[in-house]
Amino acid sequence: MKLYDGKYILVGLVIFIVLATFPVWFNHGKAAPPPDPKLDTPVISQMLNKQCVLPKEAMITGHMQLLNDWRTQVVRNGKRMYVASDGKTYEMSLQNECMKCHSNKSQFCDQCHNYAGLQKGADPYCWDCHIPPKENK
Ligand code: HEC
Ligand code: HEC
Ligand code: HEC
Repeated sequence: MKLYDGKYILVGLVIFIVLATFPVWFNHGKAAPPPDPKLDTPVISQMLNKQCVLPKEAMITGHMQLLNDWRTQVVRNGKRMYVASDGKTYEMSLQNECMKCHSNKSQFCDQCHNYAGLQKGADPYCWDCHIPPKENK
């Protein structure tokens, strides 16, 4: 066998290895796909006007604060009803109100929190006491 045949074999081999392992190193270090919080729950599907307690932007950035305020109102002040800026009333309850609409906790809350990289035990600690909705996983 002449030497340059060996060279071609070697080149072919290198190309083969690169192509065969392409998916592995190409995906390496790529960001996870951004979250896509699903709104396809039974309750939300029934809503004519699909809106949250506050406008969407305010919910994305402020839902933790809202939950915190609700808890204070209920636990400290004994108030249970919340009147939103548009005059609609809500029960200030994580499990009875938020999770009634967002009954897809794993596809909604969890998916977004995992993406945001909330340290384990940040959100889930609410569920140590509060009852998460039942889901078919
Ligand atoms: C150690 C147990 C415990 C943990 C952990 C906990 N809660 Fe609560 N929470 C309670 C109790 C008890 C009440 C009072 C229930 C009532 O009076 O209806 C309450 C009430 C609330 C309320 C108002 C009432 C209702 O039905 O939701 C909100 C909102 C709330 N908590 C949010 C949160 C959030 C958000 C977290 C996580 C950041 C959290 N809680 C973690 C025990 C807990
Ligand atoms: C009456 C049903 C309903 C209730 C109750 C409700 N939501 Fe929503 N939520 C929605 C709908 C519908 C949207 C989509 C709004 C839009 O697209 O403008 C939404 C959007 C959101 C978003 C933004 C999601 C995104 O697309 O990025 C967050 C976060 C959220 N809700 C959290 C909560 C929390 C926390 C509570 C309780 C404090 C709550 N929601 C109560 C129906 C509800
Ligand atoms: C659009 C993305 C998104 C969705 C959907 C979402 N969250 Fe969050 N949530 C976040 C982010 C980001 C943080 C962290 C904010 C920070 O640390 O300032 C957070 C923080 C929280 C916290 C405070 C945790 C802590 O210990 O500080 C609670 C409570 C919470 N979310 C509850 C919920 C619940 C309940 C739902 C579902 C009804 C939900 N979230 C849906 C993005 C989301």
